[in-house]
Amino acid sequence: MKITVLTIFPEMYEGFLHTSIISRIIDRGLAQIKIVNIRDYSLDKHHHVDDTPYGGGAGMLMKVDVLHRALLDNISNDYTYTVLTSPKARPLKQDDLIRFSKMDELVIVCGHYEGIDHRFERYVDEKVSIGDYVLTGGELPSMVLIDGILRLLDEGISADSLKEESFNEGLLEYPQYTRPVEYNGDRVPDVLQNGNHKEIRRYNLKMALKETLLNRPDLLDNHEYTQEERELLGEIVSELP
Ligand SMILES: C[S@@+](CC[C@H](N)C(=O)[O-])C[C@H]1O[C@@H](n2cnc3c(N)ncnc32)[C@H](O)[C@@H]1O
Repeated sequence: MKITVLTIFPEMYEGFLHTSIISRIIDRGLAQIKIVNIRDYSLDKHHHVDDTPYGGGAGMLMKVDVLHRALLDNISNDYTYTVLTSPKARPLKQDDLIRFSKMDELVIVCGHYEGIDHRFERYVDEKVSIGDYVLTGGELPSMVLIDGILRLLDEGISADSLKEESFNEGLLEYPQYTRPVEYNGDRVPDVLQNGNHKEIRRYNLKMALKETLLNRPDLLDNHEYTQEERELLGEIVSELP
């Protein structure tokens, strides 16, 4: 997969692309990441990429012509999918990352300053928000996208790691523990130490349901319960204080 990022701060990606799992995925050739400086597409001699908004208002806006030139120059075929980072969109979900991870080529555009000239929006396929809050630029959101997408690529990380994590099967992940078995009087549940895989699976499913019920009950609104999940939910509710 190839991901191109259009940004006015290419230097922000140095550490990110050369660290840990992301760096290993890139080194193994599973993904190619290209960082493009939007300033290279400004035609004025000072490489301006922004200007004042019509009608007044605080701050500067990124110019539509510069952004459009940068975008056109980095679309390599009809299948290149383009996204604009923006708080003015539905917040990103794991399903969106799964969808993006199946694409051959993605271009991510990072806004900055007060935002972008609205006319640029018509040139992208989709706007992506990483949550209902406002950041100074689209660079961190683009890194969130790249990180979330790359770990889903085939052979990116172990398939087992992806299988039981949060949002798969519509539930949050169950709580997990490592050594020591007791810390400050808090013990790892006995069932996880007894080696009985059937009991461990049922316990983890129950804890995933409980975690979801307590922290993100909205996820359960459209959840399609199995018979076992219904029984476990009954147990959880009866055990609640
Ligand atoms: C300061 S923000 C602009 C906010 C804009 N004035 C508004 O109120 O909607 C500058 C840029 O940061 C990026 N950005 C900020 N918050 C974001 C979020 N929650 N998700 C995705 N991108 C975001 C976008 O690229 C945006 O163009």
